[in-house]
Amino acid sequence: MDLTVIVPTFNEGPNVAELVGRLGAALEGRDAEILFVDDSTDDTPAIIASVATTSTIPVRLIHRDEPVAGLGGAVLEGFRAARARWCLVMDGDLQHPPEDVPRMLDRAAVGDVDIVVASRYVTGGTAGGLAGATRTAVSRASTALTKSMFPRKLHGTTDPMTGFFLVDRDAIDLDALRPRGFKILLEILARRQLRIGEVPFAFASRYAGSSKASFTQGIRFLTQLAMLRFGRMSAFAVVGGVGALANLAIMWGLIHLGMGYLPAAIIASEVTIIGNFLLLEYLVFSDMRADSGLMRTRFIKSFTFNNVEALVRIPVLALLVQDAHIPSVLAAAITLVAAFIVRFVFHALWVYAPKSQPSATPSPALPQPTGRTLES
Ligand code: GDD
Ligand code: MN
Repeated sequence: MDLTVIVPTFNEGPNVAELVGRLGAALEGRDAEILFVDDSTDDTPAIIASVATTSTIPVRLIHRDEPVAGLGGAVLEGFRAARARWCLVMDGDLQHPPEDVPRMLDRAAVGDVDIVVASRYVTGGTAGGLAGATRTAVSRASTALTKSMFPRKLHGTTDPMTGFFLVDRDAIDLDALRPRGFKILLEILARRQLRIGEVPFAFASRYAGSSKASFTQGIRFLTQLAMLRFGRMSAFAVVGGVGALANLAIMWGLIHLGMGYLPAAIIASEVTIIGNFLLLEYLVFSDMRADSGLMRTRFIKSFTFNNVEALVRIPVLALLVQDAHIPSVLAAAITLVAAFIVRFVFHALWVYAPKSQPSATPSPALPQPTGRTLES
């Protein structure tokens, strides 16, 4: 088999027949299959099954009852199940025109690249189908930010955030991928230096249904960037920083409502500790949760640690200032940095420690190699 077309779908029923029909026409004469990786909560799987019976090319369906890692996780699952070595990834809503696929295959056939990216931003491409000026601006800005963070690995592409690409599966290290949300191409390109080819394409409007992009996806994307670039510790630091600001804001608010500063500080700290725990669960350690036992147990450990830390840090601060005669602000900074490192090690090695044998996807307890050494 020459090609597997991987289509992640979430409630895309009305688009399936059109997509399969147009793909069948575009791929006529080639040995190809279409593989839907579906997380739908509606009748999309039934529609796929019925369309499959009349398709001119083989159609397979993987339905995930317990989806992990959203769109990116679905694509990874598709790579693992693909019959062909070359995999084409495209959306199921026809924003990625099937008629462009042959040009991508031709580009790959030249034989000098591992991946062909269909780009909206290279000469000849357009992003017309992006809903609204805000979405376009966000896409442009996040593309620039991302490219600046991986200047060498992303050098060969103008559109590292597209969801339309053709890749040699053997060129990617599937076990190294940590998909979280929409940006699976970025995950692939940032993990390993690939030889990239590009073809322009016109991003179309949705055929039917509505976009699944959301604010949460934006937050996931930022976490993914931090993880890819600086490893888990930086994502942890971002969460810690957000928590510190929230802490001060809550304290300020309570004092303005007439509360004394000590109870205000205590309430603000406890609220922040709980909020931070949730952010750690769903952003920083989301890939390690499954193997590390009960959420309740992790919460108790994390909550206890943070309270003990607060209780210990203040007397240590007093010691540093009064006995070691270190200026108070510098001393506070020292205790905060020390607390941050201890807190990170504690969470990475203990709170989220794997309870069982690591599952199919290894979940390293330490920050993963970020490829920083390879970067310019
Ligand atoms: N299996 C699965 N699971 N599929 C999903 C999920 C999920 O959780 N969420 C979305 N999808 C599928 C949709 O059904 C669709 O086929 C495809 O992924 C893209 O989702 P859209 O909701 O159409 O996203 P979009 O058009 O806003 O975003 C697309 O364009 C971006 C570029 O602007 C995606 O291709 C992004 O990856 C791309 O960055
Ligand atoms: Mn779309």
